[in-house]
Amino acid sequence: MHEPSAARLNWIPPYLFQELDDLKSRAGPDLIDLGEGNPDQPAPKPIVSALTRALKDPENHRYPTYPGKLKARAAVAAWYRRRFHVELDPETEVAMLLGSKEGVAHLLWGTCGPGDTVAVSDPGYPVYQNQARLCGATPIPVPLEEKTDFLADLNWLARIAPRIKLLCLNFPGNPTAAVAPLEFYQQVVALALRHGFFVVNDNVYSELYFGKTRPPSILEAPGAKERCVEFHSLSKTFNLAGWRIGMAVGNSGLIRSLLKIKQNTDSGPFGAIQDAAVFALQSGAKLAAANRALYRRRRDAFCGELVRHGWGVKLPEATFYVWTRIPPGREQAPAGESPSFGFTRRLLANCRVMCAPGIGFGQSGEGYVRFALVAPERQLRQAGRRIGAWLTPENSE
Ligand SMILES: Cc1ncc(COP(=O)(O)O)c(C=O)c1O
Repeated sequence: MHEPSAARLNWIPPYLFQELDDLKSRAGPDLIDLGEGNPDQPAPKPIVSALTRALKDPENHRYPTYPGKLKARAAVAAWYRRRFHVELDPETEVAMLLGSKEGVAHLLWGTCGPGDTVAVSDPGYPVYQNQARLCGATPIPVPLEEKTDFLADLNWLARIAPRIKLLCLNFPGNPTAAVAPLEFYQQVVALALRHGFFVVNDNVYSELYFGKTRPPSILEAPGAKERCVEFHSLSKTFNLAGWRIGMAVGNSGLIRSLLKIKQNTDSGPFGAIQDAAVFALQSGAKLAAANRALYRRRRDAFCGELVRHGWGVKLPEATFYVWTRIPPGREQAPAGESPSFGFTRRLLANCRVMCAPGIGFGQSGEGYVRFALVAPERQLRQAGRRIGAWLTPENSE
């Protein structure tokens, strides 16, 4: 008898957020869900209006072109010039994507296979590691540790550099919220040029920053376009996660490889969504700023409550994630269960608050949990108060 699944499905674990959905489905009422990084705010009205206008164009109802509309790619290039002072050729160095997740998958399939080694952030967005496995490559985790501000250790990277084909980075980081300074990227690019490996930087959170310095692009580093591609997305910047619109920019050879897989899998994003993306990139600076202000208020409200109750979480400088160690004394878990998964389960049972366990982002995530600030401020304060009450010593387990 044949099994319905391909053998390669055994090479990857169950998808983290599917597992969390299963936990949630048994959680009962009044749940505050800070598990998945799924923006809760509606798409901004001016962008919805741009989409509505674009829906009336009959050209948009035909198959889209694979790399995306040239005018959308030109808008991305113009935005990169304004935001990062990076020059891109819209014809060869930009591709529109059905969200950056699609691009991650197709880039890995277009560049790596059996015999290739892919270095992936640990903790990191699980899709990198899982797609590397699915395409038959060997992932090696790049440990991101608190003592190096969750940046990769460059000496460690230099040691593995001769073995890797592709290094996958993500700053500002999910789940760690770490922001990489330009000097870090410069050193990574120098290593890539010396050893001949390629680099992906996932920059989808670059517009959710709270400090004075804006997160840079890896493409600002000299020589980066020889080796690097960067992913970006409108999902987080403009709350358009359901629209599925992102972009890949940088090295034209890497983009060609991605597109060759894409041509055999899907088409470009819906033309009307690309037109609305052009509007957002050209006219959305105020909308992005309003989104930042919203997440800053949420961050301050939630972290303020936790700190007030004795859980010394650090304020993230970017992203909408709070990444923190499990409070001391709360790491215990029954045999066979990971401490961070156990903590997540108990937090849900005792506080009706959902978080994401650090182990879901890789071995180096063990001992940590991630809260996504995707609920209104009032609910975030309430979540903080419930957690605080549970953590007070008289309620100790
Ligand atoms: C680091 C990272 N990359 C990519 C994505 C996917 O985003 P998109 O909606 O652009 O596919 C996410 C979504 O959570 C993410 O956290």
